[in-house]
Amino acid sequence: MFITVEGIEGSGKTTLLTSLDLWFQQQGRKTILTREPGSGYLGKKLRSILLNPQEQLSREAELFLFLADRAQHVADIIRPALDRGDDVLCDRFTDSTLAYQGLGRQFFNEQWLRQCNNIASLAIRPDLTLLLDMDPGQALERARSRNMRAGIAEAEGRFEAESIEFHRRIREGFRKIAQMEPERIIMFDASLSPQDLLTLAISIISARLKG
Ligand code: TYD
Repeated sequence: MFITVEGIEGSGKTTLLTSLDLWFQQQGRKTILTREPGSGYLGKKLRSILLNPQEQLSREAELFLFLADRAQHVADIIRPALDRGDDVLCDRFTDSTLAYQGLGRQFFNEQWLRQCNNIASLAIRPDLTLLLDMDPGQALERARSRNMRAGIAEAEGRFEAESIEFHRRIREGFRKIAQMEPERIIMFDASLSPQDLLTLAISIISARLKG
């Protein structure tokens, strides 16, 4: 099963994914936990460019670097894992490109972006996407204090530094994308406790695994 988790910064994706990874292992399933951008040998290089606030990337350059990151990530990590029959848990995927580069940057045509995503992901689509929905003010506060604690405010803050309006557009973008694919994308209230979120996520995943 290929599961992605999406949402704005600070919505709790990493916490949920770490617990889900543990749960999958407890079920005796072979699982890989991965993320975008920044997995694999090329991803690490691209991540340091994509998230660095000192970089002056054009909108097109930003888009193509995210897509390059995805193409290599799918080819080297995601597709081989799915071919082996492993479960894949991925922090962000194609929906982030639609939300950030499409609706956040307000520049690219949605149909065209979907085609780009399709090429970069080798036409592999998530079986299930968990969308963590949260008020951007609250979520950004969480993301900023996490970054300060981890000492990555300077190195990885390019998106956190964007305006609150930008993050509101992303949130609305994700909600819109979820409405278009209600079977695949399940939206959660990310202000719930981590334990409640995990319980909800597990009940949905268990039902899909049985079905
Ligand atoms: P990251 O530090 O991984 O943030 P988070 O922990 O919130 O996921 O940063 C990833 C950033 O990259 C995030 O701000 C969203 C952005 N992004 C895009 O703009 N487009 C994409 O296709 C992807 C995968 C991420």
